[in-house]
Amino acid sequence: MEFLLDTVHIPDIEKYNAIIPLSGVTSNPTICKKEGHFEFFDHMCQIRHILGPDKSLHVQVVGQTAEAMIADAHMILKEIDDQVFIKVPTNEAGLTAIKQLKHEGVHITATAIYTEFQGLLAIQAGADYIAPYYNRMANMNIDAAAVVQAFANAINANQANTKILAASFHNVAQVTTALACGAQAVTMGVDILKSGLGMPAIGQAVADFTQDWEENFGAHQTVA
Ligand code: E4P
Repeated sequence: MEFLLDTVHIPDIEKYNAIIPLSGVTSNPTICKKEGHFEFFDHMCQIRHILGPDKSLHVQVVGQTAEAMIADAHMILKEIDDQVFIKVPTNEAGLTAIKQLKHEGVHITATAIYTEFQGLLAIQAGADYIAPYYNRMANMNIDAAAVVQAFANAINANQANTKILAASFHNVAQVTTALACGAQAVTMGVDILKSGLGMPAIGQAVADFTQDWEENFGAHQTVA
């Protein structure tokens, strides 16, 4: 299982890198826009530094043609490092770019996946990760759980090395369902982590345990 953060906000990446078993960071142009204007490659290099070499960084191309996507990928690899996973939209231009970039040995995350059709083509094209958009599918009345399950089945049946990196989550239940359906990895916004770990019931349980300890033994004193 891999848990990734879907943000470029450095204080959140530093914070949750210390809290959760973090496997990496994903970004896209919309996530970057939320951060406001910044020097893109300098910022991404800072994230890479926080993550270190063992955690994955996924950075998206912006070009609209295969040639422009490949040029974007080369720039990302040059300015950050050659281990970055290049996020490529799974359309005609993107699949063309994925085939070429895989030929060059580039790590690929095929993204903007809404259908089984897109995902199966990306698996066959050799994508290292495929990123189905779970909540966006749900909003379109597509059974996102069934799509993730179909990808897991196809990967097993074809003994493909592709991993499912499920994305676009609206709540914790979608995350756990994607994992139960066979996703090897999930990328979440900080809002999901906060709602999953900040439930009032958890806080109440901790408060109750503290009160019971103190009533029995007095104030806790392990930490000076
Ligand atoms: C992954 O990085 C995806 O681009 C992202 O999860 C999409 O999320 P959204 O549907 O909330 O925009």
